[in-house]
Order: sequence, then structure tokens, then C-alpha cells
Amino acid sequence: MYPLNRHRRLRSKESLRNLVRESTIHPHDFIVPLFLVEGKNVKEEISSMPDYYRYSLDNICKEVKDLWKLGVQAVLLFAKVPENLKDNSGTEALNTDGLMQRGIKEIKNVVPEMTIMTDVALDPYSIYGHDGIVENKVIINDKTNEILSKMALSHAIAGADVIAPSDMMDGRILSIRNTLEKNGFHNTAIMSYSAKYASSFYGPFRDALDSKPGFGDKKTYQMDFCNRFDAVSEAKLDISEGADIIMVKPGISYLDIVRELKNSIDAPIAIYQVSGEYSMLKAASKQGWLDHDQVMMEQLVSMKRAGSSMIASYFAKDAIKLIS
Ligand code: PBG
Repeated sequence: MYPLNRHRRLRSKESLRNLVRESTIHPHDFIVPLFLVEGKNVKEEISSMPDYYRYSLDNICKEVKDLWKLGVQAVLLFAKVPENLKDNSGTEALNTDGLMQRGIKEIKNVVPEMTIMTDVALDPYSIYGHDGIVENKVIINDKTNEILSKMALSHAIAGADVIAPSDMMDGRILSIRNTLEKNGFHNTAIMSYSAKYASSFYGPFRDALDSKPGFGDKKTYQMDFCNRFDAVSEAKLDISEGADIIMVKPGISYLDIVRELKNSIDAPIAIYQVSGEYSMLKAASKQGWLDHDQVMMEQLVSMKRAGSSMIASYFAKDAIKLIS
């Protein structure tokens, strides 16, 4: 009761504010998404993601070494698949000598301690830009699971530490987990995109990988952004099927989902601050409308405060440079 309780007391000087701070950002909190392309000495900027690049494998190795020096301990790999290798059955996704599989091996070679996470979904490999096998404009669930499981296994064989299925097929965690167990990959973790919403914030990412859906949208498999309980039940199912980490995606508009999960599941939560969130801030700060660094930190801390243990973010390097 006022004036016995004055909340301004603990805000009165910086050292005191530092002392009572609840949520902070550390380099170890980050998962850095990386885009791989074929070629030599390639570092090309993604037009809708200023200051963010696709790298050929030689350059990705340098980048990963730099990230490790900065204190980053996890990377999440995505491959940009050449047009002529795309089909409707994920053939290239299973190629043991594909870009992704070579990328995993090379990164493992140069920085063995780095946690390597890999995206598992068919969209970059699909002529239709969809996350699964397409028949008569329908995304076929169980057939897709079989391919995703083989894809996950090929990543594990190449040396991936964490498989990250982003496809939203039903039952894919169980199918991937069984496949990994059968093949002796008991310690390969699964980070499931359990609460992945059908979001328009993914636009720039689809430019980065040239993976826009060729017809329709992803609403028959990704979640309706009007729903909350769906996220809890997806997450619980994924844990029961063998997921180790539960992801919420996108980030900033879905902090209520992070908190809901934090209160109802016993698994570490990851959040993905997606491409559109990155590009919005880059654009606004370029115009001088928002302070890039301040808004970036405010958003990142809010994701920790909401309850996530780790953050996949294109801002990781900017943020780490700022805090260290
Ligand atoms: C594909 C995938 C997407 C993202 C991560 N994995 C796009 C999509 O589902 O269409 C989006 C990431 C981002 O926007 O940064 N399965």
C-alpha cells in the first residue's frame, strides 16, 4: 500500500535495476539459422533480409568458426536446393551426399563442439513448395512421414545432434523417433516445431530458400493463428512421441503460447523469431523510425521472459556483439 510500497525504489539506480533483473540474454541462448547454397566462395545477401546471407560450404565453415568464437553454441541448418533437384518425393532430401548432409559433416569437422540442428521438411526440395508429398493438391500425411524419417536418419548419420522437424505432419515425431532408435541414434535429440502457425511472417525465409508454395497455402497442416489450446495438445503429443525440445513459431506475436506451454509442459521451450520479424525491424530502423538495437534487445528479452530457454534468431550476432 502506498507509500509503504513504492515500486520506483528498485528502479532508482542502474546497479539496483541490474540486481533485480529477472530475464537476461546470454550468447548460449541463441540458435543461429544458417542458409546453405551450392558453389564456392559464395556469400550472397538475401534481398528481403538485409545483412543476412546464404553461404557456400567453404564460407559456412568460416562463419561457424566465427560464431563459436562469439559464444554461439547451436546452429540450425537449411539448404537451398537447386531447381533441377526438386521433385515430389523428396529424392534429394535423402541424398547422403546432398548439400545438407555435406554441410553437417563439414561443420562437424571444423567445430565439433557446436550443436548442429537440422531442418526436416520437404518444402525446399519440393516442386510444389509444400512440406510434404502432394497428390491432387492434398499434402499426404503418412507417406510424408516415411520420407521425413529417412531424411532425419540421413542427417543423424551425417552427424546432426538435433533433428528439427518443421513440417507439421501428424505423427512425424513418433515415426522419426522410432527410426532413430532402430538405427542406434539414441542420443540424437528432436526439437519439434510443435506450435508452428500458418503465418505470413515467413515471407522473407521463402525468398531465402526459394520455397514459396506453388499453389494454395499451408493452412491444412500449419496451425490456425486464432487458436491456443491446439498448441498445448500438439506439444503434449510431441513429447509423448519422443520430442526433447518444443518450439513455438513465430516469436513475438506468439508469446502467449510460450507462456501457456511453460505452464503446462515439462520440456525446454524454443522460440523462433522468424524472418518477417527480422525484416520488419531492419526496414523500420533503416528509415529511422525505430532504434534497431534497443528494439532488438527488448524483443529478445521478452521471449526469455515469456518462458523460452532458447531463441532461434537472425539477430543473434547483432545481439551478442551488443551485450559483450
Ligand atoms: C519450412 C520452414 C519455414 C520456416 C522454417 N522452416 C517456412 C514455412 O513453413 O513456410 C520459416 C522460418 C522463417 O520465416 O524465418 N518448413
